Amino acid sequence: MTPIVKPLIKTEALTKTYGSIIAVDNLDLEITEGEIFGFLGPNGAGKTTTCRILTTLTKPSSGHAFVSGFNVVEEPVKAKSGIGVVPQYLNVDGELSAYENLKLHGMLHGMEWGKMKMHIEKMLEFVQLSDRASSLVKTFSEGMKKRLMVARALLHEPKVLFLDEPTVGLDPQTRRNIWGIIRRINQERATIFLTTHYIEEAEVLCHRVGIIDYGRLIALDIPEQLLKRTGRFVVEMLDDDRSKARFFKNREDAGRFVASLDRDAIIRKSNLEDVFIKLTGRKVID
Ligand SMILES: Nc1ncnc2c1ncn2[C@@H]1O[C@H](COP(=O)(O)OP(=O)(O)OP(=O)(O)O)[C@@H](O)[C@H]1O
Ligand SMILES: [Mg+2]
Repeated sequence: MTPIVKPLIKTEALTKTYGSIIAVDNLDLEITEGEIFGFLGPNGAGKTTTCRILTTLTKPSSGHAFVSGFNVVEEPVKAKSGIGVVPQYLNVDGELSAYENLKLHGMLHGMEWGKMKMHIEKMLEFVQLSDRASSLVKTFSEGMKKRLMVARALLHEPKVLFLDEPTVGLDPQTRRNIWGIIRRINQERATIFLTTHYIEEAEVLCHRVGIIDYGRLIALDIPEQLLKRTGRFVVEMLDDDRSKARFFKNREDAGRFVASLDRDAIIRKSNLEDVFIKLTGRKVID
């Protein structure tokens, strides 16, 4: 008998409107325990709104959402107890130290002091900030602040971690450092729901990727399957200063096509940007 795997996050026809804007449009999602799920989409696609609904901060206009089996509207306190959130914008207190920021969060969650102290130390070490525990957060770099937000979100040992654009604006090295932390959290602790508009982040970090555009889920699969939708190899030709692309299932066909051309062309592997263009006619980041 196949075991029944219950989804940790589930949405049913979830919709959020702001006046005439449909921020989230009939979203049906199921995310199982242990996944790193990536929500990929351009600015204004509805990523943050979805995160806010799932983390009980925004009420949906219609439809339902469940986290750990709890309806986020009917049982927000229970739903929230198993959730850690790293919001899109930095919201750590610069006038407090890293340690004090975490202590404040632990107190707000009603953590018992002995346990809280142990967890603060463990989490600071986990995000490699132990040596800066007593520094004021206003002296931190953006990447350090993001890491502190991750530590804060994990302090009460949530089963699900929501990361809204965890690496936006960070340099490539810091981005990779955060990816390493996310992978370790996933291996050791939690299911991850992350939003991003970085193609590479979705491709290399996430087990499954949902592509969202104008509030609608337009594709959902493992990256490899999404990539097969375009053809795995791309021939890019420079034509009148515009790049034109043709897609091929394998490198041999792409090579034969290039050999038949009378102009320069490159062969590269396709990426999720190509998939997004194929689905919408636009780039993720314009
Ligand atoms: N509080 C609000 N009031 C009115 N409109 C809103 C509000 N919050 C979001 N929206 C609108 O809903 C849509 C989705 O916004 P959302 O912030 O969820 O997008 P996003 O995918 O997170 O974008 P970004 O990549 O820029 O963070 C946008 O059109 C936005 O203008
Ligand atoms: Mg957003």
